[in-house]
Amino acid sequence: MEESQDINRRSFMSIATWAIGALISAAFAIPGVAYIIGPALRGREAQEWIRLGSTSKVELNVPTLFKARIQRKTGWIVNEEELAVYVRTDNGRDFVAMSNICTHLGCRVRWISDQDHFFCPCHNAVFDTEGNVASGPPPRALDRFEVKAEDGQLYVLGG
Ligand code: FES
Repeated sequence: MEESQDINRRSFMSIATWAIGALISAAFAIPGVAYIIGPALRGREAQEWIRLGSTSKVELNVPTLFKARIQRKTGWIVNEEELAVYVRTDNGRDFVAMSNICTHLGCRVRWISDQDHFFCPCHNAVFDTEGNVASGPPPRALDRFEVKAEDGQLYVLGG
């Protein structure tokens, strides 16, 4: 009888020791795993306002190209990219910001001022001053950015 209680006590102590060891291991392992895989699970960082430059650069009814360098973070990977945006205004107060990336296969469009349209040289597509498709294969208008003007500076939402 005494031998049986001794065995039970020993197995209880063994299980208790194992359980405490498992708890201590989990206490170290869980934050470590979260640190390692956390950035990959978070994905892309939230969008932020990107400063393009002065509103005074934009002439009335003339799309003006602005370029900005941005950092895109995906998990642990940080890429620096150039963002190119055409900004247009009819009245100097309200602005429209359009991507310069063609919606067909991603070539860069450029503003042809003497013809009043954007042109994509890859497949001869034409977009009007609003970025709508005038001719060619693109399936939709040029993408737009949310834009704001503050203290004489233009900002687009991106990232
Ligand atoms: S990529 Fe612009 S028309 Fe094809």
